[in-house]
Amino acid sequence: MADTATPNVIRRADYAPPAFLIDTVALEFDLVPERTVVRNTMRVRRNPEAARAAHLELMGEQLEFVSAAIDGKPFANAHAHDHGLLLDNVPDQFELTLTSICNPAANTTLSGLYVSGGNFFTQCEAEGFRRITYFLDRPDVMATFTVTLRASKADYPVLLSNGNLLEEGDLPDGRHFARWEDPFRKPSYLFALVAGKLVALEERVKSGSGKEKLLQVWVEPHDLDKTRHAMDSLIHSIRWDEERFGLELDLDRFMIVAVSDFNMGAMENKGLNIFNTKYVLANPETATDTDFANIEAVVGHEYFHNWTGNRVTCRDWFQLSLKEGLTVFRDQEFSADMAGGATDEAARATKRIEDVRVLRQMQFAEDAGPMAHPVRPESYVEINNFYTMTVYEKGSEVVRMYQTLFGRDGFRKGMDLYFRRHDGQAVTCDDFRHALADANGRDLAQFERWYSQAGTPRVSVRTQYDAAQQRYSVTLTQGYGEAAPAARETQKGPLLIPFAIGLIGKDGRDLPLQLEGEAQAGKATTRVLEFTQTEQTFTFVNVAQEPLPSLLRNFSAPVIVEYDYSAQQLAFLLAHDSDPFNRWEAGQRLATRELLTLAGRAATGVPLQLDDSVVAAFARVLTDETLSPAFRELALMLPSEAYLAEQMAESNPAAVHAARQFVRKRLANALRSDWLNVYEQHRTPGAYEATPEASGHRALKNLALSYLAELDDPAEAVRLASAQYDAANNMTDRSAALSVLLNASAANGGSAEAQQALDDFYRRFEKEPLVIDKWFALQATQRGSAQRPVIDVVRRLMTHPAFNLKNPNRARSLIFSFCAANPAQFHAEDGSGYAFWADQVIALDAINPQVAARLARSLELWRRFTPALRDGMRAALEKVAAQVKSRDVREIVEKALA
Ligand code: TRP
Ligand code: ZN
Repeated sequence: MADTATPNVIRRADYAPPAFLIDTVALEFDLVPERTVVRNTMRVRRNPEAARAAHLELMGEQLEFVSAAIDGKPFANAHAHDHGLLLDNVPDQFELTLTSICNPAANTTLSGLYVSGGNFFTQCEAEGFRRITYFLDRPDVMATFTVTLRASKADYPVLLSNGNLLEEGDLPDGRHFARWEDPFRKPSYLFALVAGKLVALEERVKSGSGKEKLLQVWVEPHDLDKTRHAMDSLIHSIRWDEERFGLELDLDRFMIVAVSDFNMGAMENKGLNIFNTKYVLANPETATDTDFANIEAVVGHEYFHNWTGNRVTCRDWFQLSLKEGLTVFRDQEFSADMAGGATDEAARATKRIEDVRVLRQMQFAEDAGPMAHPVRPESYVEINNFYTMTVYEKGSEVVRMYQTLFGRDGFRKGMDLYFRRHDGQAVTCDDFRHALADANGRDLAQFERWYSQAGTPRVSVRTQYDAAQQRYSVTLTQGYGEAAPAARETQKGPLLIPFAIGLIGKDGRDLPLQLEGEAQAGKATTRVLEFTQTEQTFTFVNVAQEPLPSLLRNFSAPVIVEYDYSAQQLAFLLAHDSDPFNRWEAGQRLATRELLTLAGRAATGVPLQLDDSVVAAFARVLTDETLSPAFRELALMLPSEAYLAEQMAESNPAAVHAARQFVRKRLANALRSDWLNVYEQHRTPGAYEATPEASGHRALKNLALSYLAELDDPAEAVRLASAQYDAANNMTDRSAALSVLLNASAANGGSAEAQQALDDFYRRFEKEPLVIDKWFALQATQRGSAQRPVIDVVRRLMTHPAFNLKNPNRARSLIFSFCAANPAQFHAEDGSGYAFWADQVIALDAINPQVAARLARSLELWRRFTPALRDGMRAALEKVAAQVKSRDVREIVEKALA
């Protein structure tokens, strides 16, 4: 197996069209857990656009080859090997029938065909189809599929595959069958089947053109009471894509299936989306407001793939962002429209803030480390490692910039042209860019650099006001700063950066904007500057007073802005900016700056202090009833420890934790009565509502509770949290209260209240795996103390009967939560966290390489940490490198150590 050999690098520059094409595929499955027989009959022909090849080379992994036939006759020149099947001297056009056997019951990788909870599921993206049958398993080979499923009727009463159901019926020996046909050509990664004991919530809806569609959400019988929200989200998604993009559902039936063993969030298989249960199942007792919002977003995301990904797919995996960046952008816009419609900018901004926070914390970090890569990568060893923050989240920002440049209407025109040109094709990121450019009569050659350059651009800003001439000039300079070597290699020249700006007067209002050369000021008080050179000056005229600039409004490009605001100016922006995103941003800048100063002091043992003016700026937000609760919660939440550590010259998680806790305590003590007021005023008595307003109240109230728990005397907070825990009619309030109880008692090594609530929580939800995941995660992310380090808790929980390393959600809830979401404890000076990490990466590597590789990434930024930690991290990485089996984990640790 090549798994132990030096990994092969796949390069974008080496793309060549396939030597053969496959037009139709007829699959027959005899489903048996340990031994499933697959018969695959394909119409194959030579590709007129490719060089003539001597052999047909099909991919195949973990398959037992049985037989091959060409045009109905046994074919002897078929040679099976570990990675596929080689067929010599094949005709130019022929029918190929292959029979092979696989073992779904033994498949712990959750790629290909596998068994979960006694039912069969598939996961084929990116390269899982080759674990089901021999095939040209690459996205530029598109075929129509017919699928026949045969299985025991008692064990597998439901048999599903892509497209439309043609017929079903009984067979001898208690077996039955179903035959499905997908009328749309698709690449193999969109194939899916599901078989087992499942039930569905069903709905019939009419699409825009009046056709009736059958919608189903399939789950295990005991979960049927948790499907309503996913169904509503699907219906909203269908309506939204019709209204915003004129895109209709193209099949008569659309199915969502939930499975509890799943490597990622969900998968857009044509007409048969398969979801992690975490992104389907919800009711108020088991799911938080965040879960509800995530379900809406992921259901939307997978549904939107039907056009952006399935009808128009990727030529090769280097183009992954073509479908993922675009579809993330679409799901972000969908969620924003659901929260605030097209015009409620403040409500839309809360979604924008959440998305940017993820981008900055996760993608910026990725771009600064050894896995840095452009949105369209140039090479990879294991494609599963490139389902990244860069491809998804930065990719979405790149798509958003087209909309920022051309407006919603211009963006829509570009999308329309993209579908007119490419429906039914496998295309590239360049094809998308050309459609946007041509539809808007623009040359977007320079914009290509967003796809080819890695690293986070920095824009530094200088401003100058000339009172006599009433001119205000803004000089922008772009560059990359000190980037990781992987990123630096790709950086060629300046980017086209849409830089949105507003100018704010002394009264806090926006000033009219008139650029030099314009006859008069425009109506809009935000202007998108097209910043294309390394350095460029934009001059505003008729500026009657010296303004305060509001820079990069709504985060109009994925860059870091450097500008020397004073603390007073930031407080002013936080109080007045008309751009809600930048109001939040001003608060974050203010807090980040203070926190980094404090972390520097904490690192060297200097006593900490916080200026009253900072407390005052936060107090104003806390008590400003004109702001929505959701916004206030976001503005009052300090930047995360991970983000702050990343900003330090040398990451020091302990110092960051000390600084952040100091500020939280200071804000808690200084504003105690305000927090109490807010806590009381934002209760949501009565039946649970999942609306954005209600969830905003809960978020602010629970934030207040968490600050109250920081008081020197947390007794009152503990009393409130206990009462909230007992009275809660929803998971948001219950889990927030439990978290506060755990953290309030951390310094004392735990409390009776906390233990009682933990035990109650477990008993109450013993039969709800997704809630037990929360139980593990809350403990793994809790605060620790010298008396009781969290690693001890985590090690004990690893032996809990409910822990199961094979289930990715469970592994993530305990191990990933500790290694990636509890930096102060994970980075303990004694290296205990790193030793634990190495053991778990190695253990997971033997079970599920995709999941192991994700965990492996939590040490990739090791070079950026303080020397004391660096050594421990390197030792752990070297230990893993010496024992790793999979290509997935090997790529990560080798890049980290390089
Ligand atoms: N295409 C999926 C999405 O973003 C994600 C995906 C890729 C995936 N590979 C996977 C999901 C493997 C599960 C397992 O919507
Ligand atoms: Zn996707």
